Amino acid sequence: MAENAPETPGINEHDEPKPIKQHGMLIGHDTTADPTDGYEPVPLWLLAIFGAFLAWGGWYVGTFNGGWRWLELDEYSGTGTGPAAAPVEEDPIALGKRLFAGNCVSCHQANGQGLPGQYPTLNRSEWVLGNPAWMKRIVLQGLEGPIEVAGQRYNSAMPGLGAKLNDKQVAAIISYVRTNAEWGNDASPVTPEEVAATREATRGRTTPWTASELQAIQTDEGPAQAPASGPSTGESQEEQTPAATSPTPQEARQPQ
Ligand code: HEC
Repeated sequence: MAENAPETPGINEHDEPKPIKQHGMLIGHDTTADPTDGYEPVPLWLLAIFGAFLAWGGWYVGTFNGGWRWLELDEYSGTGTGPAAAPVEEDPIALGKRLFAGNCVSCHQANGQGLPGQYPTLNRSEWVLGNPAWMKRIVLQGLEGPIEVAGQRYNSAMPGLGAKLNDKQVAAIISYVRTNAEWGNDASPVTPEEVAATREATRGRTTPWTASELQAIQTDEGPAQAPASGPSTGESQEEQTPAATSPTPQEARQPQ
């Protein structure tokens, strides 16, 4: 019976393994090759490179997580191990200068002089030196529409940065600008608590301010109230201040 069967290539009791040999013959492969060819383990040097990348990634995330605060721009703070972790409390003016470089320089330029006709100057600007309530609002919610700055007219728009910068960062930037003697500015610094009070008083404001709106504001939000009144009374500092008609020292510098 077996002798009458046609000769079938590869069917031979003693050749192992048959299926591989048969398939190899069908697709024209070298059937004498070790059947594990092409299935070698990943080479060690490649594993070492993968491992090195993984380790670096872990170190990077661990070092530059910024304390896992999602609004944190200062990636070295709060890690305790970063290269710049030694000065725990950075000088607000130095912090302000750094944040100014990252958030304002593209328009107002490193020397604060802006660009003629496009971006107003921050040097001796009445908006910078006047009521701090103005600049806090400009940085938090932005500014748009016609405005006169140091004798120059502008009619443009600046986006608010309140969602990006926290109270400490806004206070640092404003303090850096207002106290910058090189720019001819000699106004008082602003504290994070004062920025927090303005943020609270302007909560719900989503559109940029206009110059005339700001000019109408005569008062300033002071430091946050003592816990007695509580931060959650919903009453804004602005409403509590009965000074809408009483003159403040800042009025002397009010634009026009
Ligand atoms: C995208 C460009 C842009 C950026 C970024 C920007 N500004 Fe402005 N800023 C403007 C423009 C434009 C005006 C004028 C708006 C108008 O015409 O109503 C202005 C106005 C101002 C004013 C009032 C006028 C003056 O010159 O005194 C202040 C203060 C100010 N910006 C501060 C800042 C600070 C601080 C930052 C960074 C936190 C900043 N700006 C970021 C474009 C910008």
